[in-house]
Amino acid sequence: MKYVYISWGEAIKLTFELAEKLLMSKYLPNSIVAISRGGLIPARILSDVINVDEVYSIKASLWGVAGKISDKVIIQEVELPIKSKKVLIVDDVVDSGSTLDAVVRRIKTFNPEEVKTAVLHIKPTSKYIPDYYVGRLESWAWIIYPWTIHEVIYSLMYKEYGCKLLDMSDEDLVKVFQELTNVVVSDISLTTVNLAKEYYLKPLCRG
Ligand code: ADE
Repeated sequence: MKYVYISWGEAIKLTFELAEKLLMSKYLPNSIVAISRGGLIPARILSDVINVDEVYSIKASLWGVAGKISDKVIIQEVELPIKSKKVLIVDDVVDSGSTLDAVVRRIKTFNPEEVKTAVLHIKPTSKYIPDYYVGRLESWAWIIYPWTIHEVIYSLMYKEYGCKLLDMSDEDLVKVFQELTNVVVSDISLTTVNLAKEYYLKPLCRG
Protein backbone atom coordinates (compact mmCIF):
# COMPACT_ATOMS: atom_id res chain seq x y z
CA MET A 1 0.00 0.00 0.00
CA LYS A 2 1.20 3.49 -0.78
CA TYR A 3 1.03 6.09 1.98
CA VAL A 4 1.01 9.84 1.79
CA TYR A 5 1.66 11.76 4.98
CA ILE A 6 0.19 15.21 5.42
CA SER A 7 1.89 17.27 8.12
CA TRP A 8 0.01 19.69 10.36
CA GLY A 9 1.47 22.57 8.37
CA GLU A 10 0.36 21.07 5.06
CA ALA A 11 -3.09 20.27 6.44
CA ILE A 12 -3.59 23.88 7.49
CA LYS A 13 -2.32 25.14 4.12
CA LEU A 14 -4.69 22.81 2.27
CA THR A 15 -7.59 24.01 4.40
CA PHE A 16 -6.72 27.65 3.65
CA GLU A 17 -6.73 26.76 -0.08
CA LEU A 18 -10.14 25.19 0.39
CA ALA A 19 -11.37 28.43 1.96
CA GLU A 20 -9.99 30.33 -1.02
CA LYS A 21 -11.98 28.13 -3.43
CA LEU A 22 -15.10 28.76 -1.42
CA LEU A 23 -14.48 32.50 -1.51
CA MET A 24 -13.86 32.48 -5.29
CA SER A 25 -17.16 30.66 -5.80
CA LYS A 26 -19.03 33.32 -3.80
CA TYR A 27 -20.87 30.70 -1.75
CA LEU A 28 -21.37 32.15 1.71
CA PRO A 29 -22.42 29.42 4.13
CA ASN A 30 -23.82 30.42 7.50
CA SER A 31 -23.55 26.93 9.02
CA ILE A 32 -20.87 24.29 8.82
CA VAL A 33 -21.49 20.60 9.43
CA ALA A 34 -18.35 18.56 10.05
CA ILE A 35 -18.48 14.87 9.34
CA SER A 36 -17.04 13.39 12.49
CA ARG A 37 -14.33 12.67 12.92
CA GLY A 38 -12.44 13.31 9.68
CA GLY A 39 -13.95 16.70 8.99
CA LEU A 40 -13.70 18.13 12.50
CA ILE A 41 -10.34 19.85 12.23
CA PRO A 42 -10.72 21.18 8.66
CA ALA A 43 -14.21 22.43 9.63
CA ARG A 44 -12.87 24.29 12.67
CA ILE A 45 -10.12 25.95 10.63
CA LEU A 46 -12.57 26.87 7.84
CA SER A 47 -14.98 28.29 10.37
CA ASP A 48 -12.25 30.62 11.56
CA VAL A 49 -11.28 31.78 8.07
CA ILE A 50 -14.82 32.33 6.84
CA ASN A 51 -16.16 33.73 10.10
CA VAL A 52 -18.91 31.17 10.67
CA ASP A 53 -19.47 30.25 14.29
CA GLU A 54 -22.33 27.83 13.75
CA VAL A 55 -20.37 24.61 13.51
CA TYR A 56 -22.13 21.30 14.04
CA SER A 57 -21.02 17.72 13.65
CA ILE A 58 -22.57 14.49 12.56
CA LYS A 59 -20.84 11.17 13.06
CA ALA A 60 -20.87 8.93 10.03
CA SER A 61 -19.01 5.76 9.21
CA LEU A 62 -19.08 2.89 6.81
CA TRP A 63 -20.42 -0.28 8.26
CA GLY A 64 -17.88 -3.11 8.20
CA VAL A 65 -19.10 -6.69 7.84
CA ALA A 66 -16.71 -9.48 8.77
CA GLY A 67 -13.69 -7.25 8.40
CA LYS A 68 -14.81 -5.92 5.04
CA ILE A 69 -16.06 -2.40 4.59
CA SER A 70 -19.48 -2.31 2.97
CA ASP A 71 -21.24 0.55 1.26
CA LYS A 72 -23.75 0.92 4.06
CA VAL A 73 -23.33 4.17 5.94
CA ILE A 74 -24.28 4.55 9.57
CA ILE A 75 -25.18 8.13 10.43
CA GLN A 76 -25.66 9.49 13.92
CA GLU A 77 -29.28 10.29 14.75
CA VAL A 78 -28.99 13.93 15.64
CA GLU A 79 -31.15 17.04 15.24
CA LEU A 80 -29.31 19.95 13.65
CA PRO A 81 -30.69 23.53 13.71
CA ILE A 82 -30.01 24.19 10.04
CA LYS A 83 -33.50 24.75 8.66
CA SER A 84 -33.30 27.49 5.97
CA LYS A 85 -29.53 27.74 6.46
CA LYS A 86 -26.81 27.75 3.83
CA VAL A 87 -24.81 24.72 4.86
CA LEU A 88 -21.29 23.61 4.11
CA ILE A 89 -20.57 19.94 4.85
CA VAL A 90 -16.89 19.27 5.51
CA ASP A 91 -14.82 16.08 5.54
CA ASP A 92 -11.13 15.27 5.09
CA VAL A 93 -11.27 12.75 2.24
CA VAL A 94 -13.86 11.38 -0.15
CA ASP A 95 -13.12 7.74 -0.90
CA SER A 96 -16.01 5.91 -2.58
CA GLY A 97 -18.27 8.85 -1.83
CA SER A 98 -20.89 6.74 -0.04
CA THR A 99 -20.47 8.57 3.26
CA LEU A 100 -20.66 12.06 1.81
CA ASP A 101 -23.59 11.13 -0.40
CA ALA A 102 -25.53 9.69 2.56
CA VAL A 103 -24.72 12.67 4.80
CA VAL A 104 -25.88 15.14 2.12
CA ARG A 105 -29.18 13.27 1.86
CA ARG A 106 -29.59 13.31 5.64
CA ILE A 107 -28.72 17.01 5.90
CA LYS A 108 -31.34 17.82 3.24
CA THR A 109 -34.02 16.28 5.46
CA PHE A 110 -33.52 19.28 7.79
CA ASN A 111 -34.72 21.60 4.98
CA PRO A 112 -31.69 23.86 4.65
CA GLU A 113 -31.79 26.61 2.04
CA GLU A 114 -28.73 25.23 0.27
CA VAL A 115 -26.11 22.52 0.79
CA LYS A 116 -22.58 22.34 -0.56
CA THR A 117 -19.71 20.01 0.25
CA ALA A 118 -16.01 20.62 0.81
CA VAL A 119 -13.15 18.17 1.41
CA LEU A 120 -9.37 18.27 1.33
CA HIS A 121 -8.83 15.27 -0.98
CA ILE A 122 -10.69 13.15 -3.46
CA LYS A 123 -9.48 9.82 -4.85
CA PRO A 124 -9.43 8.52 -8.42
CA THR A 125 -12.23 6.12 -7.48
CA SER A 126 -14.56 8.69 -5.91
CA LYS A 127 -18.00 8.52 -7.48
CA TYR A 128 -19.23 11.52 -5.50
CA ILE A 129 -17.41 14.71 -6.46
CA PRO A 130 -17.77 17.41 -3.80
CA ASP A 131 -18.36 21.05 -4.73
CA TYR A 132 -14.96 22.05 -3.36
CA TYR A 133 -11.75 20.06 -2.92
CA VAL A 134 -8.06 20.87 -3.13
CA GLY A 135 -6.15 17.63 -3.71
CA ARG A 136 -6.83 14.79 -6.10
CA LEU A 137 -4.77 11.64 -5.60
CA GLU A 138 -3.66 10.41 -8.99
CA SER A 139 -3.15 6.83 -7.85
CA TRP A 140 -4.52 4.85 -4.98
CA ALA A 141 -2.88 5.75 -1.68
CA TRP A 142 -3.74 5.95 1.97
CA ILE A 143 -3.57 9.49 3.30
CA ILE A 144 -2.19 9.77 6.79
CA TYR A 145 -3.64 12.98 8.19
CA PRO A 146 -1.96 14.31 11.30
CA TRP A 147 -5.22 13.80 13.21
CA THR A 148 -5.13 10.05 12.48
CA ILE A 149 -1.49 9.40 13.14
CA HIS A 150 -1.79 7.21 16.24
CA GLU A 151 -4.69 5.26 14.79
CA VAL A 152 -2.67 4.51 11.64
CA ILE A 153 0.48 3.66 13.56
CA TYR A 154 -1.29 1.16 15.75
CA SER A 155 -3.63 -0.38 13.21
CA LEU A 156 -0.81 -0.98 10.74
CA MET A 157 1.65 -2.23 13.25
CA TYR A 158 -0.89 -4.38 15.05
CA LYS A 159 -1.67 -6.16 11.78
CA GLU A 160 2.03 -6.86 11.30
CA TYR A 161 3.26 -7.54 14.85
CA GLY A 162 0.22 -8.13 17.06
CA CYS A 163 0.73 -7.89 20.81
CA LYS A 164 4.51 -8.14 20.54
CA LEU A 165 4.30 -4.38 20.11
CA LEU A 166 3.65 -4.02 23.83
CA ASP A 167 7.24 -5.07 24.52
CA MET A 168 8.82 -2.66 22.02
CA SER A 169 10.45 0.61 22.99
CA ASP A 170 8.92 3.86 21.75
CA GLU A 171 11.86 4.42 19.41
CA ASP A 172 11.40 0.95 17.91
CA LEU A 173 7.65 1.51 17.45
CA VAL A 174 8.31 4.64 15.46
CA LYS A 175 11.07 2.92 13.46
CA VAL A 176 8.78 0.00 12.61
CA PHE A 177 6.05 2.40 11.53
CA GLN A 178 8.46 4.26 9.29
CA GLU A 179 9.66 1.01 7.75
CA LEU A 180 6.09 -0.07 7.04
CA THR A 181 4.98 3.19 5.50
CA ASN A 182 8.19 4.73 4.17
CA VAL A 183 7.08 8.02 5.61
CA VAL A 184 9.25 9.90 8.02
CA VAL A 185 6.91 11.73 10.28
CA SER A 186 8.46 14.58 12.14
CA ASP A 187 5.23 15.37 13.99
CA ILE A 188 5.34 12.12 15.95
CA SER A 189 6.18 12.53 19.58
CA LEU A 190 7.56 9.48 21.34
CA THR A 191 5.51 10.44 24.36
CA THR A 192 2.17 10.33 22.56
CA VAL A 193 3.07 7.12 20.72
CA ASN A 194 3.72 5.59 24.11
CA LEU A 195 0.53 7.03 25.63
CA ALA A 196 -1.53 5.81 22.70
CA LYS A 197 -0.18 2.29 23.21
CA GLU A 198 -2.40 2.14 26.31
CA TYR A 199 -5.49 3.12 24.37
CA TYR A 200 -4.97 1.05 21.23
CA LEU A 201 -3.08 -2.08 22.20
CA LYS A 202 -4.11 -2.80 25.73
CA PRO A 203 -7.83 -3.18 24.92
CA LEU A 204 -6.90 -5.54 22.08
CA CYS A 205 -4.20 -7.50 23.86
CA ARG A 206 -5.48 -7.69 27.41
CA GLY A 207 -9.20 -7.77 26.72
N1 ADE B 1 -10.51 6.34 2.70
C1 ADE B 1 -10.93 6.63 3.93
N2 ADE B 1 -9.97 7.26 4.61
C2 ADE B 1 -8.91 7.37 3.79
C3 ADE B 1 -7.62 7.93 3.90
N3 ADE B 1 -7.21 8.49 5.02
N4 ADE B 1 -6.79 7.86 2.84
C4 ADE B 1 -7.21 7.28 1.72
N5 ADE B 1 -8.40 6.72 1.55
C5 ADE B 1 -9.25 6.79 2.57
